[in-house]
Amino acid sequence: MNASHPVPAPQRLEDYRPYPFAIKEVRLDVTLDPQASRVRADLDLTRQHDGDLVLDIGKAVTLDRLAVDGSDLDAADWTRKGETLTIHRALPQSFTLSSEVTIDPAANTTCEGLYLSGGIFCTQCEAEGFRHITPYPDRPDVMAPFKVTIHSDLPVLLSNGNPVAQAPGRAEWSDPWPKPPYLFALVAGDLRAISDTFTTMSGREVDLNVWVRPGDEDRAGYAMDSLIRAMRWDERVYGREYDLDVFNIVAVDDFNMGAMENKGLNIFNSKLVLASPETATDGDYERIESVIAHEYFHNWTGNRITCRDWFQLCLKEGLTVFRDQQFTSDMRSAAVKRIDDVVTLRARQFREDQGPLAHPVRPDSYVEINNFYTATVYEKGAEVIGMLKRLVGDEGYAKALDLYFERHDGDAATIEDWLKVFEDATGRDLAQFKRWYTDAGTPIVTMKEDWDAEHGVLTLSFSQQTPSTPGQTDKPPRVIPMAVGLISPNGDEVLPTQMLEIDQAEQSFRFDGLATRPMVSALRDFSAPVVLRRELTDADRAFLFAHDRDPFARWEAGRDLARATLLAMLDGGAPGPEYLAAIGRVLADRDADPAFLALCLRLPSAEELAQARSEAGHTPDPDAIHAVREELASVIARTHQAELDRVLTDTVPAGDYSPDAGQAGLRALRLAALGLVTRIDGGARAQAIYDGATNMTERAGALAALIAAGAGQDAVADFHDRFKDVRLVVDMWFMLQAANARPDRAVPLARELAAHPDFDWKNPNRFRALIGGLSANHAGFHAADGSGYDFLADWLLRVDAVNPQIAARMSGAFETWARYDETRKAHAKAALDRILATPDLSRNLAEMAGRIRG
Ligand code: PHE
Ligand code: ZN
Repeated sequence: MNASHPVPAPQRLEDYRPYPFAIKEVRLDVTLDPQASRVRADLDLTRQHDGDLVLDIGKAVTLDRLAVDGSDLDAADWTRKGETLTIHRALPQSFTLSSEVTIDPAANTTCEGLYLSGGIFCTQCEAEGFRHITPYPDRPDVMAPFKVTIHSDLPVLLSNGNPVAQAPGRAEWSDPWPKPPYLFALVAGDLRAISDTFTTMSGREVDLNVWVRPGDEDRAGYAMDSLIRAMRWDERVYGREYDLDVFNIVAVDDFNMGAMENKGLNIFNSKLVLASPETATDGDYERIESVIAHEYFHNWTGNRITCRDWFQLCLKEGLTVFRDQQFTSDMRSAAVKRIDDVVTLRARQFREDQGPLAHPVRPDSYVEINNFYTATVYEKGAEVIGMLKRLVGDEGYAKALDLYFERHDGDAATIEDWLKVFEDATGRDLAQFKRWYTDAGTPIVTMKEDWDAEHGVLTLSFSQQTPSTPGQTDKPPRVIPMAVGLISPNGDEVLPTQMLEIDQAEQSFRFDGLATRPMVSALRDFSAPVVLRRELTDADRAFLFAHDRDPFARWEAGRDLARATLLAMLDGGAPGPEYLAAIGRVLADRDADPAFLALCLRLPSAEELAQARSEAGHTPDPDAIHAVREELASVIARTHQAELDRVLTDTVPAGDYSPDAGQAGLRALRLAALGLVTRIDGGARAQAIYDGATNMTERAGALAALIAAGAGQDAVADFHDRFKDVRLVVDMWFMLQAANARPDRAVPLARELAAHPDFDWKNPNRFRALIGGLSANHAGFHAADGSGYDFLADWLLRVDAVNPQIAARMSGAFETWARYDETRKAHAKAALDRILATPDLSRNLAEMAGRIRG
């Protein structure tokens, strides 16, 4: 770490102490004004333990008054230092602490605390944003019911809970459910609702509203529809009912993340609410459905049961992601959803585990908690729950969850509490399983087969080993559920899926009574987040790809074949016949789900190949990786031109556009085929699809293909022309260009786009579109001359001064720098050092750049 820029000392899990006071009720009175909003807070406190009364308070909050039981404190009674406010006066056992502050929402560019987005007042308090609104013990284990009064002339005034009174210029809300401060929310603005009602399983009627800016109402219907399906699903599958009279969702244009589960008042990035066939892709619709569900599911997993401290973040996020994944599997195709999730996990979480940012699902220290909303906490956190469910069975899981809700409703809980309900409900000892929460790193599992022909016995031997990660070198063996099946040479399944439990460093399992040597289908349904190493020939992979009954394992065999083909090409080989023949069978398959076939056609990403190269001890060459992917795509296109053309004509859904899985699958297959043929037809077919497109999925897909082929000039201009007034589509316009530009064009193009009048870089979506688009362009971003790194560093520094969370998040593009060659490494290191040497860096970016730099 750069000594000239010390990062603050970390917070540690082991230092947790309960707060000395409980809060019986919070009363907030907020008078909104863009430059000078006034917040009065009355907190009814009762002492529980020894200790000072210490409150958190943001640096930009002006403290106008403090009083205990109505009598004003004077300057000698308190000290304010950094972000804390300590009260020295002797305090009764129970008392009311009142504070009055002034804050400036218009000057707040951080999208945290109270801020303005397009004229709408809104709040974001997770993780530690409430302190920017009022002095408070800003920690999740201090839970209280809230009463809120808002004064403003704006037409719509919202807060958590139930509405109590609404009069012109004033609204009162009451939230009876004790909640941590990070779930507080307030919204005020000129908003329009689309509304519906929902009758819960016990017969209570709930008013549902999705609030958007005037003019956006016709794009909010899918969000409402998704909400109703999510509410129904949580009742049916988890027995969880909604607990207030109203449920409000608000869409805002300036938001750091996807969405936020504030009690009864979810606030969303408008990208995850607004959709119409002309402006949103099938992928956007699917994300809206899943994020609406995710935030709704937090009402029980996160809100009714919250986290004791931020180290336990995976308690709510891992579980809620797991639940939203189950929901999507039920709404759409379970097989396709599982494969999609594994692709994402490998691209983001395996990458994180392999690099300098690796951390446990439950970290034990952090500098800035906002830097721990990671793929490890979210996606690996969900995988860990999937493993628990596999180990205890569906019934055990259901019993454990019932016990969790019964035992911990109203609590701020820990991972220990979570594991204990599984132990108590099922009798299983989870001491070893807990390592999945405490130990970072992706285990590497090696499988060897031994076939005893004489006795018909197959022995599978497994060994497991987890590489070291920052701060953790000793990794004892974990419990790994390994789902295997056996397939006979004629393709029949001779042994249906068995769940083997690997819990030692080396372990064998015997299968006897076998007539012929079977083929092993392993890690079915991706039963554990591990890297599986085994020796297979291309013929073996092709066999599994043709015969495996498990859709994930079947897809994986094809993926493995593609990966092996590309890796062999990197070593100078040519694509083998097995892979090309397998692709031929995919294209000829009229029975399988088109969405599944689309996944089988897609080549492993450049990032996945770079990861595989570096895992195997090589230095990945981004240009070579780009070249072999291009080359393989053209070989496929030339070999299967006729079939690809047939796919292009057979995959036009009948009837009006619908974002359902059936139609979306057809379009995915069509676009996968288009991506391949565009490599050899100069973009003719993509241009035709672009010109004839009646929905955004095809239009954006065709545009991406054209840009990747270097043939998108006219379409790029046309796209901007058509959609220049639709903010979310302009984001797409930036992103598609940056992400798909040919490697040598990527950075120069990104520079041009950064100078475009529409590049409103203070808007998080716009910034992410361009900067994140470039970072996703593997060979483009990792340009050998370091221009991608310099460009990113320039923009991170610029955005850090206005929105540290966005800067820190986007800095993750640097996380793989140490994988590459000396020239690239020197450039990346220089860019990181330049960031670290900058005065007044945010704590967010300082921590990230420091950890990445190492
Ligand atoms: N808690 C939100 C979610 O996962 C994510 C979030 C975190 C949003 C921090 C804003 C700020 O649903
Ligand atoms: Zn969440």
